[in-house]
Order: sequence, then structure tokens, then C-alpha cells
Amino acid sequence: MIDKINQLKAEIEGLEAKNLQEVEALRIKYMSKKGAVSELMADFRSVPAEQKREIGQKLNELKTLATDKLNALRENLEQADCGACDLDLSRTAAPMPLGTRHPLSLVRNEIISIFSRLGFTIAEGPEIEDDWHVFSSLNFAEDHPARDMQDTFFIQRNPDILLRTHTSSVQSRVMEKTQPPIRIICPGRVYRNEAISARAHCFFHQVEALYVDKNVSFADLRQTLLYFAQEMFGPETKIRLRPSYFPFTEPSAEMDISCNLCGGKGCSFCKHTGWVEILGCGMVDPNVLEACGIDSKVYSGFALGMGVERITNLKYQVKDLRMFSENDVRFLEQFQAAH
Ligand code: DAH
Repeated sequence: MIDKINQLKAEIEGLEAKNLQEVEALRIKYMSKKGAVSELMADFRSVPAEQKREIGQKLNELKTLATDKLNALRENLEQADCGACDLDLSRTAAPMPLGTRHPLSLVRNEIISIFSRLGFTIAEGPEIEDDWHVFSSLNFAEDHPARDMQDTFFIQRNPDILLRTHTSSVQSRVMEKTQPPIRIICPGRVYRNEAISARAHCFFHQVEALYVDKNVSFADLRQTLLYFAQEMFGPETKIRLRPSYFPFTEPSAEMDISCNLCGGKGCSFCKHTGWVEILGCGMVDPNVLEACGIDSKVYSGFALGMGVERITNLKYQVKDLRMFSENDVRFLEQFQAAH
């Protein structure tokens, strides 16, 4: 009897199974009513009384061993089975951190999305421009200070070629090629010859908007501005227009919004005025329409231009402009898309 038990013990310890059906077959072979272990248990009756204690103990051990072994085989197979169903062999070993969008891209995309809801489509132009598109077509006088070497990066060999100082150049490029109705939004990088500091940089980003059609009025401009400000900074936002001057618009204005930090009550950010300036705008000067081949007696239009860094600073209170171009991941990963 003891030999039989030991033999069965060795057999069970070495059991293997390739699938759950095999485990079940083994269970039947060893543990069912007619199985090998159960038959030994039945033989226990004929064991002489003086051996009952020893053999009983061994039999119990055998039964536990068989149960444990079958359970272990089953669990292994079940785990392997499940492991296989969500095992992605193409995954890298370590988790890969996802990047985030640059704050200026987030804000530029938001500006574009707001204007696209009003039917504006994107137009782009070159960063290396000529004098005509950046200045002359936009009604800048020959001696306008913006043309000054101090502001503009000229290409040394040919002063007619320069880095655009504003995205208004895209206005004239589009107007030259397209007859109204024109409704465009022009995002892009611009360059000015400034010493780099926390508040100024030699390159930055602007978004320009232009709408030219019959009967476009200052009221259309104002309503567009209000819509933009409230979409960008929240429905409570108020706007105010101050008279200003740009060569390419007449009349021209600068737009302030109620300070989005203090809600217009006055704080150090808005220098206790309750207002912060965010963009320039106006009705397209008839000279500009004519210079670009559009009949100013038939058509009128409005234009506006804003700095993306400025809007981003207002939204996220970034104090130093240089942060935007330093590529410090600790700074960049703090920004999430609003939607
Ligand atoms: N181009 C101007 C700048 O760089 C911004 C601007 C002002 C654009 C008024 C416009 C406008 O279209 O109407 O500061």
C-alpha cells in the first residue's frame, strides 16, 4: 500500500497539462469516484489496524498533493490564457510619456477655431517678404518709422527683401489674388529687431483677420471683436475700443478687454485700470483696397491683428516671454488644451 501511495505521489508531482481539458482529464483519472486516489482511499478499509494511522496520514497527504497540483495546473493555464489576450508585443518596455502642445499653439488654435465659427478660413504667407507686401501696399509712407532699420530685419544685399514685421502682409497677398467676399484668418511668425528681454523678443506670433465685402461696417467689426473676446476669455468679458492710428486702417482702434484676472475691479496686472489691451483693428483704408486691386467704392472691410504671446500671457500669466522659446519641458508640460 505504501509503495502504491509513493508511486502515485511521484506520478502526480510530475503531471503536466497543455490545456484545461487535459487538466479535467487528469482530475477524472485521479480524483473522480473511480480515480486512482479514490480507489486507494477505498482500499484503506482493508489496511490492518496497526498501520491505519501511518497510512491514513500518507493518504491524506496524497489527496492534498493531488488537489493542489490540479489547482496549480488549472490556474497557470487560466493566467496564461488571459495574459495572451491583452499582450501587446509591439509595446515598449517602459511607459512612453506623451508630449503636450506648446502653449502658443494651443492659443493660436483656439483663436483660429473661434474665427472659423464665424466663417473665416486660414490664409498664410511667407516669412521672408518684400517691402511692397509688408509696407507699401499697406499705405506706409516712405518715411514711416516702422521701416526703420531699428525695427525691421532687412536682407543686407537687397533692402527690398525683409523678414515680415507683421502678418498684415498676408492681407495684401490675398487681396491681390482674390476678389471679395474675403474672410481670412492669418496666423504666423513675425520678426522685429528688438533686444531680447522678458517683455520683448526678436520673433513672436500674430494672428491677423480680414473681412472684405459689400457693406462691411464698423458695427460688424465691433460685434466680431465682442464675440471673439467672450469666446476666448469668458461670457462676462467686456470690450472697449480706443481710437488709434495704423497706416492701413481708417478709422483705427485698439481694443481692451475687462481685466480677466480681477474681472475689471482693478489689480496690479491691469495697473488698476480694470482694462488690458489685446489687439489693434480698424476699417481697411481705401488706399489699401485700391493698392491690391479691389474697388473701394464697391467694397469695404475690417481688419484686426493680435499677438499670440499677449493673449497667451493673459490666459496663463506667463511673465517672461523667453519661456516660450527655451523648450524647457518643465514649463511646456503645464499646458493642456481647453477642449
Ligand atoms: N499689424 C499691426 C501690428 O503689427 C496689428 C494690426 C493693427 C493689424 C490693426 C491690423 C489692424 O489688421 O487693423 O501691430
